[in-house]
Amino acid sequence: MANPCILVFAGSIRTGSFNARLAAIAAKEIALAGAEVTLISLADYPMPIYDGDLEAASGPPENAIKLKRMMMAHPGVFIASPEYNASITPLLKNTLDWISRVRDGKEVPLAAYKNRVFALGGASNGQYGAMRSLLALRQVLEIGCGALAIPEQIAVARAAEAYDEMGLFKDEQNTQRLRNVVHRLIDMARQFA
Ligand SMILES: Cc1cc2nc3c(=O)[nH]c(=O)nc-3n(C[C@H](O)[C@H](O)[C@H](O)COP(=O)(O)O)c2cc1C
Repeated sequence: MANPCILVFAGSIRTGSFNARLAAIAAKEIALAGAEVTLISLADYPMPIYDGDLEAASGPPENAIKLKRMMMAHPGVFIASPEYNASITPLLKNTLDWISRVRDGKEVPLAAYKNRVFALGGASNGQYGAMRSLLALRQVLEIGCGALAIPEQIAVARAAEAYDEMGLFKDEQNTQRLRNVVHRLIDMARQFA
């Protein structure tokens, strides 16, 4: 079976973001596992805060349409999700919400979330490593959008100390955990490729 292409992005555009670093390591591990990878930054897809009036007047923003089509072109998606007040960032929620509103032609609603598989990771400087953000993201994806997300996930605790100067994990356990997530994601994504 052909190797699938996996889309990777983080829910933070902060300079030096712990989650952008996690996304970068995930992308590297995906490539090492022999799959193709597309690593993007949401900084390149700015969009206004969702507003029903805006949508009624002009439809979803161009960047939401672009991102939605990009998701459709990838059978696997890895999201590195920061934790804000025990949930996901407004940037990530807004992006996922706008994508959920894009419908090309007569396709089913929420098409970007169907027929592909998601894997979740998160990094925070706290001891739980964005774990609550992963729970919230799982709710949005699985319950809200009807997506399939694999149970394996990675929560990188004490993120300020977790990465070395090369941007890799200092702790082998984190590397192994991420590898496990990524390998399962690729295996599952193959079924949708
Ligand atoms: C509004 C706000 C709320 C936050 N709430 C949490 C939280 O509930 N749990 C946590 O571990 N960190 C929390 N943090 C700290 C973030 O984990 C930290 O800013 C982290 O660097 C964000 O991810 P990033 O490095 O990828 O940008 C919060 C930060 C902000 C700005």
